[in-house]
Amino acid sequence: MLRLTSPFVMVIFGATGDLNQRKLLPALFHLYKKNILPPEFFIVGFSRRDYSEVVFKTFLKEAIVKYDDRHKLDENQWERFARNIFYQQGDFDQIDGYDQCIAKLAEFDKKLNACVPRYFYLATPPDKYEIILKFLHETKLSEGCGQGSDKWTKVMVEKPFGRSLEDAKKLDMKLATIFKEEQIYRLDHYLGKETVQNILAFRYGNTMFDPLWNRQFIDHVQITIGESLGVETRGNFYEGVGALRDMAQSHLLELMTAIAMKPDKYSVETLRDARAQVVGSIVAIKPEEVTRYVVRGQYGRGITNEGQGMTNQIEMRGYREESNVDPQSNTETYVALKVLLNHPRWDGVPFYLRTGKRLLKKVTEIAVVFKEPRLNLFGSHFRGKTNVLRFNIEPNEGITLSVLAKKVGLISEFESMPMAFTYQKQTELPQAYERLLLDGMKGDQTLFTRTDEVEASWKFISKISKGWQLQGVPDFPNYPAGSWGPEGATQLIEKDGREWLLK
Ligand code: BG6
Repeated sequence: MLRLTSPFVMVIFGATGDLNQRKLLPALFHLYKKNILPPEFFIVGFSRRDYSEVVFKTFLKEAIVKYDDRHKLDENQWERFARNIFYQQGDFDQIDGYDQCIAKLAEFDKKLNACVPRYFYLATPPDKYEIILKFLHETKLSEGCGQGSDKWTKVMVEKPFGRSLEDAKKLDMKLATIFKEEQIYRLDHYLGKETVQNILAFRYGNTMFDPLWNRQFIDHVQITIGESLGVETRGNFYEGVGALRDMAQSHLLELMTAIAMKPDKYSVETLRDARAQVVGSIVAIKPEEVTRYVVRGQYGRGITNEGQGMTNQIEMRGYREESNVDPQSNTETYVALKVLLNHPRWDGVPFYLRTGKRLLKKVTEIAVVFKEPRLNLFGSHFRGKTNVLRFNIEPNEGITLSVLAKKVGLISEFESMPMAFTYQKQTELPQAYERLLLDGMKGDQTLFTRTDEVEASWKFISKISKGWQLQGVPDFPNYPAGSWGPEGATQLIEKDGREWLLK
């Protein structure tokens, strides 16, 4: 039912990079295996490395084997899929590769005797976006088949969109001079996660939650994106970007938005409006107030149980010892924030957000903590924790609601019990990139961020960066690898009389 029929060509800039190896290519391969990709398609990897097509395909095959640990590679399927893969060697800042690409894409059009729709996927570090866009424009590749029609091209841009508000604005202006908004797909893969989409369904599909979804009943919200991995091979990208720009500006704020937004119908623009409205209503943190609301951290050496469920302990390097990282680096690998919204529904309800690398475990969770019942007949020992609705984004995807219940027995004792919904173990959840690539190809922009939302998030984030500049050199490292982050993050929430539920 979902099968796409129109052929396409996807040019992936940065095809030998981490993102393509870990996420994009595996997602395309899954879509192929599920028989969703159309009968005819062409994937062109555009990168600097001097690879032949054969070497490039072997490189991708190895990546699939390495990173797609859910499936054993089926050689035959791979061989069939790989027939659709091509390689274009080129420097992003030299015209030659783009010129050669024109010829390659023209061959596909000729082969199918059609204007094959083109997707340009920017999977490079963001500082390359501008030059790539410039050449797409100059060579008229951006105009698609026959260089004269904008109907057949789309551009997919990975977060982070720039490194600051100014950058983001510049990038948007550049994009807008070349493409129309309907052709621009800005990706934040958290929006494509199955469990994130379930938040809206859960809130609006169930009569009992929507009426409670406001400051009258909700005490606060906690959002944690914990990663057990460190910076891995991405030191070059991560240095100077840090957790605030890499994770908070996009993924953390998107999760918050999924909780706080209130669209009045399910349509592309209403949902995008509702998201932009939430981000636009975040109360700005003045640079001089940054320590009250934001805590940053960087991991030092430590011991971790790498991967969940493993019992063997591994000694981990500190961030400053990672490859391609400055040994004196002040880049933060952790950030925790207290965010308030300037909105009648959320007035006074704090959203505590945190994310970090090399934390105790890989986990993404949202906890909506409800206020205590007004008439508390059963004592105060559950204060602040009676009803907590947890969205387990991953792992163990599902939703849990804790409720107060009487303990079995002859005396009146009460305990907090979970009511849980988990996705069936046998159901394999689609990966976020599968969903986003598919939506992109179908032309559905619902799960892609719009320029006003991106700009509003940068406005908020930039003030924090400014505040950190004013503060001067941080005292890094300040949390050991394999912990829950710096002590300051515990104080951030405890000074409000609350505590992190995940610890
Ligand atoms: C990416 C960040 O957007 O998200 C990475 O650039 C991070 O630093 C990754 O590791 C986390 O994604 P996920 O889906 O594994 O939680």
